[in-house]
Amino acid sequence: MSLENMVIPQHVAVILDGNGRWAEKHGVPRAMGHKAGCETLEKMVRAASDAGLKYFTVYGFSTENWKRSQEEVGALMQLFRFYMVRLLKIASANNVRVRMIGDKTRFASDIIKGIDDLVEGTRDNTGMTFVIAINYGGRDEIVRAARKLVNAYRQSGKDAECIGEEEFASFLDTADIPDPDLMIRTSGELRLSNYLLWQLAYSEFYVTDCLWPDFNKEELEKAILAYNKRERRFGGRV
Ligand code: IPE
Ligand code: IPE
Ligand code: MG
Repeated sequence: MSLENMVIPQHVAVILDGNGRWAEKHGVPRAMGHKAGCETLEKMVRAASDAGLKYFTVYGFSTENWKRSQEEVGALMQLFRFYMVRLLKIASANNVRVRMIGDKTRFASDIIKGIDDLVEGTRDNTGMTFVIAINYGGRDEIVRAARKLVNAYRQSGKDAECIGEEEFASFLDTADIPDPDLMIRTSGELRLSNYLLWQLAYSEFYVTDCLWPDFNKEELEKAILAYNKRERRFGGRV
């Protein structure tokens, strides 16, 4: 398959799901599934950039994921530590700029430093923007935005009647990032799991049974092909 003559969505947002099922399928611990998922993520940052995406957002850890077992959360934190450093190299080598969305304050201080180094170290890159959603929840993001907005309005004494959609969106973590054109969820679940609730208002959804660790360039191309066949009714570029 080739992407020739296809409209490339400028922003693709992914819910990378199925690491646990992949581990079960291979008879290995869940942590191994997450490790395999991180390896796929590394490859997909490059593949997304090569495909010509301008923004590639992935859901790596939700505000609800803290409720998983201590062992699993611990394994995920270890992987974050390790892959933040690797991602800095990969992003730098591919001219990719990294942004983080979500509430980083809940992470351990060395992970926060890893995130800051990754964002700062790639700030001037001019290629694709890779947005990593960790400790991210759509509702949490909207509540934090409302708090920031109330504070800003209190300070400036501005009238609440002035608040429009654009103004509100500028307080979200995704300020200045265009809404996703296409949302991909791997592993077949038909739900949003608190992902980008505001931003996905008019995005096309594509769900595949492919488990995230098995996802690759060809699977991304299939999703882009499906996107090209959709009849977009509002606000679309296709
Ligand atoms: C997605 O894989 C990764 C994270 C949520 C961190 P899961 O761990 O949710 O995999 P399944 O859904 O159990 O297969
Ligand atoms: C969504 O997957 C969150 C991430 C991919 C980080 P989950 O596996 O956590 O979602 P649910 O529990 O199936 O809704
Ligand atoms: Mg899951």
